[in-house]
Amino acid sequence: MTIKVTKLHSHFAARVEGIDIATGVSDDDFNALRTAFEEYSVIVLPSQDLDDERQMEFSRRYGPLEMMAPHLANDSNPQHISRMHNEEPDGSLIPPDDDRMIYQSANMIWHTDSSFKPVPSLCSMLHARILPPEGGETEFACLRAAYDALDQGMKDFLDDKIAIHAFANTRRMVGGKLNDWQKKNLPPVRQAIIRSNPVNGRKALYTGGHAGEIEGMSKEDGAALLKELMGHITQDEFVYAHKWNDGDLTIWDNRAVLHRGRPWDGTKYKRILHRTTVAGDGPTA
Ligand SMILES: [Fe+2]
Repeated sequence: MTIKVTKLHSHFAARVEGIDIATGVSDDDFNALRTAFEEYSVIVLPSQDLDDERQMEFSRRYGPLEMMAPHLANDSNPQHISRMHNEEPDGSLIPPDDDRMIYQSANMIWHTDSSFKPVPSLCSMLHARILPPEGGETEFACLRAAYDALDQGMKDFLDDKIAIHAFANTRRMVGGKLNDWQKKNLPPVRQAIIRSNPVNGRKALYTGGHAGEIEGMSKEDGAALLKELMGHITQDEFVYAHKWNDGDLTIWDNRAVLHRGRPWDGTKYKRILHRTTVAGDGPTA
């Protein structure tokens, strides 16, 4: 085995060295990486030389890729690659108050990818292409450590609870509305609040910005409890902030972490990251 795993946070996240996707990843190394992914939830692979094709090919080793819904920040063109960027086609900066940047600002709300879909995502992979000299970190919050820290009464209460996740929730938070395609194709969905990892059984407190209500509770009480849980999950103790380096590929387990992007000075600096999202294997509830 040639890979080296270094833990980045007391609860989760690890840097894995010894993998070079461009020259090929052996089955043994891939299996070791997959084991580390189940264990640490966030994996950072430094210095990866990737284009979109190579990123998609590697991502597919985890499973089928999700298609991004059409929206204005991807030219309303559904595709497997999601570009987080502030670059006009002519290379200039998109102004921060442009609708495309306001659309992307929802990435700065704590969330887990695709929890608004009936089958949410297994994992996402984000590759740093162009970075600002400061700011623009990605933060991750450990849903397993957050679950473990709940008192037993709350664990028992949440055990069979279902939250309602809707794409409209995060749209509303950035002052946006759903387009016609999103209205038709992204109705609210049910997700279990407690999810167990199929390999090691560890439980995660699964919620995030798309969650707005809890079944069996009044709208107000459900929203208040979700807000309280979000405060608990995102306290410093459970958060790892990833400061990007050129070429970093970060893989995160959408079943076990929340994430959000952090601001940077978009009037001065370009920031371009490309994401692939691997589909999950079934509904959670
Ligand atoms: Fe995301």
